Amino acid sequence: MEPRFRLLSLFFLLVVVAFIPFNVESKCRRSCGLALASYYVLPGTSNLTYIATVLESRFVKGPQDIANYNKNGTTNTTIESKDYTRVNVPFPCECINGDFLGYTFHYSLSSGNTYESIADRRFSNLVTAQWLTSLNSYSQYEIPDNGMVNVTVNCSCGDSNVSKDYGLFITYPLRPEDSLESIANQTKIDPLLLLRYNPGVNFSHGSGLVYVPGKDVNGNYLPFQLSNRGLRGGAIAGISAGVVALLLLLAFCVYVRYCRRKKKLPIKHTSRKTARVMEAYGNILGDCVEKSAKFSYEALANATDNFSLANKIGQGGFAEIYYAELNGERVAIKKMDKTASKEFLAELKVLTRVHHLNLVQLIGYCVKGSLFLVYEYIDNGNLSQHLQDSDRKPLSWSTRIQIALDSARGLEYIHEHTTPLYIHRDIKSANILIDKFFHAKVADFGLAKLIDVGISSVPTGKMAGTFGYMPPEYTRGIVSPKVDVYAFGVVLYELISAKEALIKDGDEIKGLFDEVFDQEDPKEGLKNLVDPRLGDNYSIDSVFKMAQLAKACTQGDLQRRPKMRSVVLALGALSSNIENWDLLLRKYCSFESVLSAR
Ligand SMILES: Nc1ncnc2c1ncn2[C@@H]1O[C@H](COP(=O)(O)OP(=O)(O)OP(=O)(O)O)[C@@H](O)[C@H]1O
Ligand SMILES: *[C@@H]1O[C@H](CO)[C@@H](O)[C@H](O)[C@H]1NC(C)=O
Ligand SMILES: *[C@@H]1O[C@H](CO)[C@@H](O)[C@H](O)[C@H]1NC(C)=O
Ligand SMILES: *[C@@H]1O[C@H](CO)[C@@H](O)[C@H](O)[C@H]1NC(C)=O
Ligand SMILES: *[C@@H]1O[C@H](CO)[C@@H](O)[C@H](O)[C@H]1NC(C)=O
Ligand SMILES: *[C@@H]1O[C@H](CO)[C@@H](O)[C@H](O)[C@H]1NC(C)=O
Ligand SMILES: *[C@@H]1O[C@H](CO)[C@@H](O)[C@H](O)[C@H]1NC(C)=O
Ligand SMILES: *[C@@H]1O[C@H](CO)[C@@H](O)[C@H](O)[C@H]1NC(C)=O
Ligand SMILES: *[C@@H]1O[C@H](CO)[C@@H](O)[C@H](O)[C@H]1NC(C)=O
Repeated sequence: MEPRFRLLSLFFLLVVVAFIPFNVESKCRRSCGLALASYYVLPGTSNLTYIATVLESRFVKGPQDIANYNKNGTTNTTIESKDYTRVNVPFPCECINGDFLGYTFHYSLSSGNTYESIADRRFSNLVTAQWLTSLNSYSQYEIPDNGMVNVTVNCSCGDSNVSKDYGLFITYPLRPEDSLESIANQTKIDPLLLLRYNPGVNFSHGSGLVYVPGKDVNGNYLPFQLSNRGLRGGAIAGISAGVVALLLLLAFCVYVRYCRRKKKLPIKHTSRKTARVMEAYGNILGDCVEKSAKFSYEALANATDNFSLANKIGQGGFAEIYYAELNGERVAIKKMDKTASKEFLAELKVLTRVHHLNLVQLIGYCVKGSLFLVYEYIDNGNLSQHLQDSDRKPLSWSTRIQIALDSARGLEYIHEHTTPLYIHRDIKSANILIDKFFHAKVADFGLAKLIDVGISSVPTGKMAGTFGYMPPEYTRGIVSPKVDVYAFGVVLYELISAKEALIKDGDEIKGLFDEVFDQEDPKEGLKNLVDPRLGDNYSIDSVFKMAQLAKACTQGDLQRRPKMRSVVLALGALSSNIENWDLLLRKYCSFESVLSAR
């Protein structure tokens, strides 16, 4: 039996591995099935009957189907131009060739049609002439007088990384009268959110497509949800994903069954590379020895040369950190001399399932005398080292913005998107790790305590946290996500000055930046605080904005501190040099008090 299992598991793994690249290549696998097209109605020239023929689909058979989505204008199928000039038209949103989301309408040509006229007049700029040229075999000079052309209108199903509140999107062609403000005004959607859905788009450009959350027939926003409905082109990719999942499951079953029988891996029968792949899968699927995600103590001791000094890379308050390679994967092992309760182990199990680009991944753990936490290894040290060590190259200003944005994203994720939600409680520059591409990852969940949303008091005992990063309410036992916001603000000050932002002055705690905002010209004052290693290679406006953000985050009144979500939006706007930064922040991110200070 055993050799057969061995062969089978190898076979399945190879099939799985062979499928993976294919699967990664397809850019959409699923679709939400429905989208809205914003059709601009030239006043007095068009009516819903006409639009219904242009954008006919299984959702639109007649004018009433469009009117249903535009209740606010009128239920009357004749448009009165003063009522509204844009009509939302429902259309199927499909995954086309596994490549992008859209729907192909077929337009019957008549004499004199050009791609320009089709794009501009018939389809109200939902497509461009250039796009039509690439979709159809006719060159733009040889369009016949009859026949069909493909008109593919792009669509969006949203992005769970941006917000799970929106899953129905309007494909919205920009017109010269539009701006970020005006669209936000009409839709009542936070402009910074619009920017996140449309990164890098200039809303005042007068042309081009943007995606704006839209409402369904009942006037409600639909939550983010990708389903397999409405698939045609994407079906193939979807099925292949299903096949891969099935194979993975099979491989897993066979593998687990095999492993339970025998503890050693069948290395001698396979090439070393295959063995490595298999071992790696073994870890992801669960350590055979322990039948769980834990690593065996022997494996950890072996990999660290019995936790030798040579392998030690760090020392924290409660832990020693060791470097190791486990099955060819580079890891950091945190050895904590703490007894781990059953509850804590259950928490750890949940933590291994929290994945985010800007969080240091917990891969596994093991209890044997000490508690051992196995994390992915991050190459490039921590932020504190980058700011303090004169041997390291100084971080450029744009890298600092990037690091701020990355860590804000990691924090936003644990505050708003995990189940359960987490509060880090020990954010500081030493806990922000830098990878080889100078992206930042938030580390050290060892002290994070599981806490439900809302303010709750902390049980007695030592509290997590580091001097200089703790907000005033924290010492009164009040813990909320705003604790992390405060600490993050302190990190922002550090990014600017490369110095500790709070200094103990006798009994008094003084902020390095306390006085700068009261000055006649805060920007002049700021220049004296900026990390001298930046030289002149920074924009004082940008530094000023980050300082304003830091100030907003470190307000004594926790209610006035922004949420991490707003901080992410603000930093995103800062990193892409958005105009009207002040305006947007004042209006939507509760930074009012700070900005009005000066
Ligand atoms: N996953 C990792 N990859 C690479 N280096 C790491 C990793 N985890 C920790 N380190 C290094 O070890 C140092 C100390 O680790 P850790 O963050 O756990 O302790 P600390 O934050 O200094 O202490 P405390 O537990 O009191 O917060 C880090 O600052 C970092 O330089
Ligand atoms: C609707 O518009 C089309 C084209 O503009 C026009 O031919 C038709 O008469 C209009 N129908 C109504 C009911 O106004
Ligand atoms: C749209 O309709 C809703 C409910 O009928 C109403 O509250 C809202 O003010 C309307 N909006 C506009 C722009 O007419
Ligand atoms: C629709 O609007 C037209 C023009 O304003 C009007 O004559 C007609 O009575 C309206 N129909 C309905 C059903 O409201
Ligand atoms: C639609 O999406 C495709 C693929 O992303 C892109 O190449 C094309 O330019 C888009 N069309 C329009 C009109 O934006
Ligand atoms: C429309 O698209 C289909 C499928 O991609 C293609 O076979 C057909 O040739 C296209 N039509 C034109 C006019 O190019
Ligand atoms: C947005 O709406 C407010 C009132 O709701 C108005 O004062 C402001 O001028 C509008 N801005 C734009 C750009 O339309
Ligand atoms: C956006 O586009 C408008 C019009 O083309 C232009 O005036 C403005 O400078 C652009 N803004 C940015 C930030 O590029
Ligand atoms: C969402 O974030 C995850 C992790 O940061 C990333 O892997 C994924 O590609 C993102 N998804 C989208 C649609 O950007």
